[in-house]
Amino acid sequence: MASLRHHGTWDGPRVRGDLPGPRSAALLARQDRHESNARTYPRHLPIAIQEASGPYVRDVDGNVFLDFLSGAGVLSLGHNHPALVRAVIEQLDRLTHGLDFPTPVKDEFTQSQLSMLPPGLRDRMKVHFCGPTGANAVEAAIKLCKIATGRSDIVSFQGGFHGSSSAAMALTGLVAQKRPVANGLPGVHFFPYPYCARCPVGLEPHACDISCATYLERSLTDSHGGIPLPAAVILELVLGEGGVVPMRAEFARRVRQLTAELGIPLIVDEVQTGCGRTGTWFAFEQYGITPDVIIASKALSGIGAPVAVILYDRRLDSWAPGAHTGTFRGNQLAFAAGVEAIRVFHREDVAGNVRRRGQQMARILAGLVDRPWVHEVRGRGLMWGIELAHPADGRPATAMARRVQAHALRNGLIFELGGRDDCVVRLMPPLNVDADVVDTACAILLAAIDTCTSDDGAGHAPSAAVHAHRNHE
Ligand SMILES: Cc1ncc(COP(=O)(O)O)c(C=O)c1O
Repeated sequence: MASLRHHGTWDGPRVRGDLPGPRSAALLARQDRHESNARTYPRHLPIAIQEASGPYVRDVDGNVFLDFLSGAGVLSLGHNHPALVRAVIEQLDRLTHGLDFPTPVKDEFTQSQLSMLPPGLRDRMKVHFCGPTGANAVEAAIKLCKIATGRSDIVSFQGGFHGSSSAAMALTGLVAQKRPVANGLPGVHFFPYPYCARCPVGLEPHACDISCATYLERSLTDSHGGIPLPAAVILELVLGEGGVVPMRAEFARRVRQLTAELGIPLIVDEVQTGCGRTGTWFAFEQYGITPDVIIASKALSGIGAPVAVILYDRRLDSWAPGAHTGTFRGNQLAFAAGVEAIRVFHREDVAGNVRRRGQQMARILAGLVDRPWVHEVRGRGLMWGIELAHPADGRPATAMARRVQAHALRNGLIFELGGRDDCVVRLMPPLNVDADVVDTACAILLAAIDTCTSDDGAGHAPSAAVHAHRNHE
C-alpha cells in the first residue's frame, strides 16, 4: 500500500465498492463484540482507519477520504503535521510525563499560550493544567468559580455542550445523555441561547429584540426570579455539538455587561472554538468581550496529544494546593507539539487561511440556501453547519441528514452531524486546508444533498468521483 505520508502525491478521494469494505467490516464487528455500546462515530461513519496525513484518511481497505471531522476539531493542522511530528519525536526521547513540575517545554507552552491572548489579558491571566480532556477543564472552571465566589449555582445555555463527565454533562443541554444518570450536579439553570433559526421563545427573527438577553437580565436581577446569584455563567460563543450556532454579538455583549455588573465570573468554553477554529485564536476576540475564565483543550497540541487548560483572571485564584489535580496534567508531548503548533500558526498564517477558506466555504455553501431541504447555512471561520429540515413543515430532517452523510462518505468525504435531532451537517476541516480540498469537499457535499433530496430518493447512488470546480482566488 502506497504511503500517504507525503501528501503531495495525493490524487483525490477514492472510494471503491460498498462501505464498509471487508477489512473495515471485520474490525467493526470485532469492535462491536468487545467495545462499549456508548461508542459513536463508527456507527454512522463505518470505516476502520489505517493511516492519515494532512486532510486525508485511508481506511484499512485502501479507500481514501477527505476528513472534515478532524478528530472532532482536535487536528487543527490536519493529521500528522510534519513539524509537529518532529517536535513530538524529539520530546519523546527527552521527557514524556511530568505531573505538574515545571519543565522547559511546559514553560514554553505556557508562555506561548499566554502570548496568544489579546494584549490586555496576557498579564491578567493564570494557567491551570487540568486532566487532559475538555470536560475536566470544564469541571476545573466551575470549581474555581464556586470557590472564588463562595456561591453554588451556575447558569448555562440550552443547546450547549460541555462534555460527558457528571458536572460537564449537567451543564450540557443534551437531555438524552443525562436523563438516565441519577443525581446529577444540582444548581444548574438553563437559559435560552439565541438560536434564531428556531427561536427558543418562538419569535420570528424580524420581531426579535434579543429577548433571550432580556430574559436572562430580568431573571438574574429579579428578587423573585428563583435563582440565587450564580457562581458563574458558562457559554459557547459558537455552539459546536449543538449544531454550529454562532452567538449573536449583541447577546454576548449583554451577557458580559450583566455578569460584570453583578460580579459573576463569565466562563467561555473555547474547547471547540479555540486555537484558531473561528479565525481568531479564541472566538471571544470577535465579540469584543473579555471573559474571566477561558477553557481550552481539543486543538491545543494540534496533533491529538491530549492536554486541557483553563486560563483565568488571577483575581479568581483562591483555590488551595491540590484543589484540582489530574495525573495526566503534565503531557510533555502535547506541550512540545503545542509550542510547535503556535509557531506553525504564525509562520503559515493559519488565521489568514481560516478567514480565506472560510469565505470560500461561505460563498460555495451560500448556493445551498435556496434548496428546499436546507433550513439554514451558518458558520464562522472553518466551522460550518448546514441545517436540514423537511420542506413541508420545517421539522428537523434527521433521516435525510444521515442519508446525506452516508452518500458523502461513499464519495470520499467524512463529516459528522450535530445539533438538535442530528439534523445539522457539520464541517470542520483542518485550519491549513487548501482551496482545492475545500472545493472538492464542498462539491461532494452539494452533490450528496442534491442526490439525496431529489424525488427518487437516490441516496443510494453508487460511489462516483466528484470533481470540484475552482472558484477561489
Ligand atoms: C464546547 C465543548 N466543551 C467541552 C467538550 C468536552 O471535551 P472532551 O470531550 O475532551 O471532554 C466538548 C467536546 O466536544 C466541546 O465541544
